[in-house]
Amino acid sequence: MAVDLLLGLQWGDEGKGKIVDVLTTNYDIIARFQGGPNAGHTLIFDGAKHVLHTIPSGIFHKTALNVVGNGVVIDPVIFKKELENLDKHNIDYISRLLISRKAHLILPTHRLLDAASETAKGKAKIGSTLKGIGPTYMDKTGRNGIRVGDLELDNWEEKFQHLTKKHLKMLSHFDIQLDYDLVELQAEFSEGIKKLRQLQFIDSEAYLNDAIKENKTILAEGAQGSLLDVDFGTYPFVTSSTTTAAGACTGLGVAPNKIGEVFGIFKAYTTRVGSGPFPTELFDKDGATMAKVGHEFGATTGRARRCGWLDLVALKYAVDVNGVTQLMMMKGDVLSGFDTLKVCTSYNYKGTEITHFPYNIEPENVSVNYSEFKGWDEDLTKMTSANQLPQSLLDYVAFIEKETGVPVKIVSVGPDRKQTIVR
Ligand code: GDP
Ligand code: IMO
Ligand code: MG
Repeated sequence: MAVDLLLGLQWGDEGKGKIVDVLTTNYDIIARFQGGPNAGHTLIFDGAKHVLHTIPSGIFHKTALNVVGNGVVIDPVIFKKELENLDKHNIDYISRLLISRKAHLILPTHRLLDAASETAKGKAKIGSTLKGIGPTYMDKTGRNGIRVGDLELDNWEEKFQHLTKKHLKMLSHFDIQLDYDLVELQAEFSEGIKKLRQLQFIDSEAYLNDAIKENKTILAEGAQGSLLDVDFGTYPFVTSSTTTAAGACTGLGVAPNKIGEVFGIFKAYTTRVGSGPFPTELFDKDGATMAKVGHEFGATTGRARRCGWLDLVALKYAVDVNGVTQLMMMKGDVLSGFDTLKVCTSYNYKGTEITHFPYNIEPENVSVNYSEFKGWDEDLTKMTSANQLPQSLLDYVAFIEKETGVPVKIVSVGPDRKQTIVR
């Protein structure tokens, strides 16, 4: 069977966790392919809320196996906390959560380097989640990283101490005083490693390719969003991994001709957390309403998310870069009550109107042009079938489908697993 992909088309937090959880009943295996604990994927069902950072969002279903792929970076300290949360819900992760030996480890000193780098940037800071993501991927591509498989080697401790020493030397080059207790950080790290060792380490690329040959169904779960991709996002205000479809190939060891459906998730409006350009950002009461009704606070850092209108220029770009075959529109319920909705359909770029996503979308180069749509007043959150959806929402969706050339197959009308309308 082919591997289906599910990924965010904006700046993250589109609702990937919720939809992976909903779709898991259709799959044998859920595999995370990139990112790490910078992600926060929220699942709500049976009156309880769960936030996953590194663990795939299929873990709450008894039927699916969950794989943390080689493209993911793991912080054993955060991972341990995630597992302890699963313990509270009696989730059997020992038999259902498999970890790639090639996934890289986030060391305590990676987190310190992230903090030092951000502080040193001053006003130009990226707004990193400070989880050590950038420094860990730098060590990976710099060929200095430590991988899960190293835990099975005799010289693991030596490798760890060697890299830590190197990081401490690097930290001393920053003109910044960080307050930390290395002994405490390393003790916490050791506890995390102990917990991680309880899990099954696998050669995940072999495992997944065998599963494909055995006709198993696999859903690859992305983290972050296309506009945070290290190549195609709003660089340098991006994360350090490939969040787009190609990242699933490199992050799982699955060949491009094995990819099936590409599910692209977007919010009916746009949010961004952290720094960086955001052409449709609102600073008025409409933006405040989206933030309030949509509870727009980061699932990982708790930071307020910036809000704005849907940006179709950016969405079409993400659809192209990923080869999206099906769209899923989230949080339509949050827009109930707006008289008029705006959708950005073109940019003015250095004085010329353009409809493609340009090299640089900083405000000095880009302003936006909007099309307007009639809003809807109906409360969508109790709706369960497509024929209950208001006409003005259907018109909004039809416009998005026409512009992108891709069908919107799911309309999500609330955070709960059940508040999902399949079209
Ligand atoms: P992810 O990172 O893409 O998994 O998304 P997050 O979990 O960070 O953020 C999405 C937020 O929106 C979470 O709080 C979800 O519970 C919530 N959510 C998801 N879908 C919907 C929806 O259709 N309507 C509303 N109101 N909330 C939603
Ligand atoms: P999920 O998977 C939203 C943002 C950070 C920052 C930039 C770089 O929940 O959608 P990093 O810590 O990766 O070096 O931060 O990327 N960012 C996210 N924003 N959702 C996420 O993940 C994010 N992961 C990173 O806010 O601007
Ligand atoms: Mg999130």
